[in-house]
Amino acid sequence: MASSTMTSTVKSQKLLKTSVNIWFTVVVVGQFIFALYILGLYGVNGLAGDFERWNNSTPHGYVPKDIWGNILFGVHMALAAVITIGGPLQLMKKVRTKFPRFHRINGRIYITSAFAISLAGLYLAWMRSMAGGLAGSIFITINGILIMTCAFYAVKYAIARKLTSHRKWAIRLFLAMSGVWFFRVFLMAWIMINQGPIGFDMETFQGPALNVMYTCSYILPVIFAGFYFKAKESSLPKTKRVISIFILFLTVYIAIGTAVATMGMWLPSL
Ligand code: HEM
Repeated sequence: MASSTMTSTVKSQKLLKTSVNIWFTVVVVGQFIFALYILGLYGVNGLAGDFERWNNSTPHGYVPKDIWGNILFGVHMALAAVITIGGPLQLMKKVRTKFPRFHRINGRIYITSAFAISLAGLYLAWMRSMAGGLAGSIFITINGILIMTCAFYAVKYAIARKLTSHRKWAIRLFLAMSGVWFFRVFLMAWIMINQGPIGFDMETFQGPALNVMYTCSYILPVIFAGFYFKAKESSLPKTKRVISIFILFLTVYIAIGTAVATMGMWLPSL
């Protein structure tokens, strides 16, 4: 390989690594804030027995007399906190290499929670009416199926000791599990950029813009992971650069959405 081509490949590899690291840092900070919101709103009020406040953010958190549904909602919230804190820790290289035992234990908790939160979520989506109506229920169901599929393959390859495949499925799982967080963040960035709820109805919480956002949050990240793996393994600097620039743009959008979600949605609900 000519030395200029080699330099270009090394540089683009570095660019890809840096953009992923920046993206991951923003996501970790944002998910940590989301976890604090979950613990603050659902954890603190649940422990205090003040279940009515569960409806600060969603119309169907606490439904009087629906004991089974309320228990599953509580379980869903507890798992949401576990996942939102445990997920990023699973992907941190330093944590993986310095604390392999923690990685294995946290991994088992994460995978079990992936199935449990999806099954509890499926019950909530179909047995209770949900903000977002039928479209919301269909898209979140696709998210649940994707989560369980990625979790299945992540475990399968871990048991088979095929660590490259395990890592790829673990990344896909993290992206699928982050779907609900992406949705909130993308939605708030969209509202801020358009200075209002364009493309959907605030009352019914339905509309084409939401369907696009569901797709971008629940489905596309898992598909995009495949492009990232290809770019990482590719010898073409251009491929790495294109993916890096896309990741950087996305990071800016996510950072905006996180700031708006924190100030406009999560903090005021506490
Ligand atoms: C995997 C990560 C997940 C996290 C972190 C999570 C988190 C949350 C949170 C925090 C809420 C309360 C609403 C709010 O305060 O914003 C919620 C509600 C809900 N979640 Fe999840 N969730 C996840 C996955 C799922 C899945 C896979 C499903 C369905 C298959 C699901 C279905 C629901 C439903 C139906 C509600 C009630 C929403 C409503 O009443 O409109 N969730 N979730």
